[in-house]
Amino acid sequence: MTDLPADLSAAVRRFAEGRKGLGDSSARISEHYRQRGASRQVIGGADDAVAYALSRMPATYAAVSAVLDELQARAPDFAPRTLLDAGSGPGTAGWVAAAAFEGIAATLMDHNRAFLTLAARLAEGTALAAAELLEADLGRFQLATRYDLVTCAYALTELPDAQMLAAAEQLWRHSDGVLAIIEPGRPRDYQRLLTVRRQLIELGGRVLAPCPHERACPLVEPDWCHFSVRLSRSREHMRMKGGTLGYEDEKYSYLIIARPGIGAPAAGRVLRRPEENKFSVTLAVCGADGLESRVVPSRDKSAFKAAKKLDWGDATTE
Ligand SMILES: C[S@@+](CC[C@H](N)C(=O)[O-])C[C@H]1O[C@@H](n2cnc3c(N)ncnc32)[C@H](O)[C@@H]1O
Repeated sequence: MTDLPADLSAAVRRFAEGRKGLGDSSARISEHYRQRGASRQVIGGADDAVAYALSRMPATYAAVSAVLDELQARAPDFAPRTLLDAGSGPGTAGWVAAAAFEGIAATLMDHNRAFLTLAARLAEGTALAAAELLEADLGRFQLATRYDLVTCAYALTELPDAQMLAAAEQLWRHSDGVLAIIEPGRPRDYQRLLTVRRQLIELGGRVLAPCPHERACPLVEPDWCHFSVRLSRSREHMRMKGGTLGYEDEKYSYLIIARPGIGAPAAGRVLRRPEENKFSVTLAVCGADGLESRVVPSRDKSAFKAAKKLDWGDATTE
């Protein structure tokens, strides 16, 4: 489980205190995102922004955490000093990066002032307090600086197809080290990420994850590459979501692209939840030679033990 850090959830709760109708706003926002609507049409002011932070931020935080964990596993020596979080919303990826990379100087960029205002309030008194806030459009931004790490979480998805590649290219041009793009784990977003992947490889980027190779993706429709992260639901979160389950599973797709010389991809990636019985573990692995169904028999004791520890999304060493 990856949950919001205590200081962040306390800050969100403080900002939400005394505001009425957040449950309704949250339901409206969730429905809007399910219908693939863009934030701008539904996040108009402080109440909407905080309803987002209560209902969606725990899940996007968990997905970004999973991706930055993977970045650290693939590039253990990469120690970014500067971050651009594009489409930052309330600062989600900034919070994750500040925890992962101590002392990182963050720039949070968004075109929605309500989100930036909330990001600034949540950051007060924390490692993100000095973050620079930039009101700018992902579709056409041009900054004087390049950043060691650029993140873009659940934001590219809001751009129309016609603007997406240009935006991805700009993100890459602003990155001196690594670009991490996290998107909802839906077939449409995976297909768009494939286009982005092709383009960034052409521009000299190296794929660090999730793919163990830079060839065409071997998955065949209706399959799509996506992953899942579990997070617990706080009482407010459950109230916002109107549910009784104490956790939820967030599906996401992602790409980590690095400048040459930074890190190395894994040998393989587990693409589904492993199937396990007492005789064997079966792993769906994407590797250098394409897709493979690996059956590890229980009689091969050490390999079986290692395979039982693997989960959907994990890297494999061969
Ligand atoms: C679903 S929210 C994600 C927020 C945050 N990154 C997260 O993971 O929680 C999408 C964010 O992208 C921003 N966004 C969408 N289109 C944008 C654009 N053209 N320029 C800048 N920001 C944009 C929205 O304002 C919103 O903050």
